[in-house]
Amino acid sequence: MNIAIVGLQWGDEGKGKVVDYLAQGFDINCRFQGGPNAGHTVWRGEEKFVFHQIPSGVLNKNIIGIIGAGCVFDPAIFFEEIENLKRYKEDITERIKISKFCHLIMPYHILLDKIKEETTQGIGTTKKGIGVAYEDKYARIGIRIGDLFYPEIFEKKLRANVSRKNVILMDIYRAEPISDDEVFERFIEYGEKLKPYVIDESNFLNQAIRDNKKIIFEGAQGVLLDVDFGTYPYVTSSHTITGGAYIGLGIPPASIGRVIGVAKAYTTRVGNGPFPTEDKGEIGEQLRKAGNEYGSTTGRPRRCGPFDASIVRYAARLTGTKELFLTKLDVLQGFEKIKVAVGYTNAKEFDPFIAEELIPVYEEIPGFEEDISQMRNFDELPGEVKEYIKIIEHYTGLKVNYISVGSQPEAVIRR
Ligand code: IMP
Repeated sequence: MNIAIVGLQWGDEGKGKVVDYLAQGFDINCRFQGGPNAGHTVWRGEEKFVFHQIPSGVLNKNIIGIIGAGCVFDPAIFFEEIENLKRYKEDITERIKISKFCHLIMPYHILLDKIKEETTQGIGTTKKGIGVAYEDKYARIGIRIGDLFYPEIFEKKLRANVSRKNVILMDIYRAEPISDDEVFERFIEYGEKLKPYVIDESNFLNQAIRDNKKIIFEGAQGVLLDVDFGTYPYVTSSHTITGGAYIGLGIPPASIGRVIGVAKAYTTRVGNGPFPTEDKGEIGEQLRKAGNEYGSTTGRPRRCGPFDASIVRYAARLTGTKELFLTKLDVLQGFEKIKVAVGYTNAKEFDPFIAEELIPVYEEIPGFEEDISQMRNFDELPGEVKEYIKIIEHYTGLKVNYISVGSQPEAVIRR
């Protein structure tokens, strides 16, 4: 059965590790939205791999990784990732495929993302050009990977875009203009290098589905960052819910049989925007330290706080999640007390329109001292941890089927 993995918080739930773990024995692993704003981390012994655009299951044997049309794509970052992966898996270049429909992140997107963030009151983006690339896509002026194979068409589109962007750069932001000649040369070269990777992924995947291949769909960011259902406007620019996989890959709804939601055993958020359970004091600081909560794409310190059952329940509804992969539970070791937000004093449910005002109601249970990182059976877990999971299951309405207790691939308790 094909599986979709989605983040149920504000991203950084540990989807990289989860996908790597669940992708064992699968044939295909697809990314369907986002771009190099993602940073999915996978460990192999002492070696750390951070996947930005390439699906994070590709360290598994023979699996094919696909970057779908719903993503935005930065060739420079892609080739860096490929070089890095080649050291580990020599056949990697034959196993990666990219949609010809995928929109390119152009240098002016990155420049404008940075300038906007720095000159106006930004939302705290990753400055990878994501939002500006999606803006052009929906304004129907974007440039797609497939355009690179038709130099005349590409040149026309590029020159029109650069002259528009130069007006914005110079007249609005008083910045230097950019040269289209340099960008043209560079991207024609990228086109040549990308040719062997490029496919029509809808065609490829629909055939794979007919052949009963096993596919794992990998969401990036999290539901609370979804452009429609997240904490708008403090969101990313793509559809992070399960539905994003259908439109981001051109596949029929029946192609996903199981949705596994990923949530961290506490909550984090990077960038600006509402975060009801944020703890700006000692607990937040302790979580950041213990969980090493610094962005894997930008290095920014993450805002931290207790688990919020209401946002996870909200995200589960939007994604069709019934089962939870709970991550980083080991991080809670040594906390005197563990708090869980089980609702709000001023609202029945999580509501993104009033997210700034929500006041959490907490349940508190005693913490645990034991090192749980080596445990692999649910029964071994201390009573306090079992109680914690029971509370999470009760208030989210989800079954915790997997628990991650460390960064290594084998550090998982499966129920
Ligand atoms: P953008 O996606 O770079 O436009 O950033 C929009 C918002 O989404 C910012 O608050 C980012 O910090 C956040 N964001 C984007 N990608 C990720 C991610 O992979 N993990 C966590 N937050 C992210």
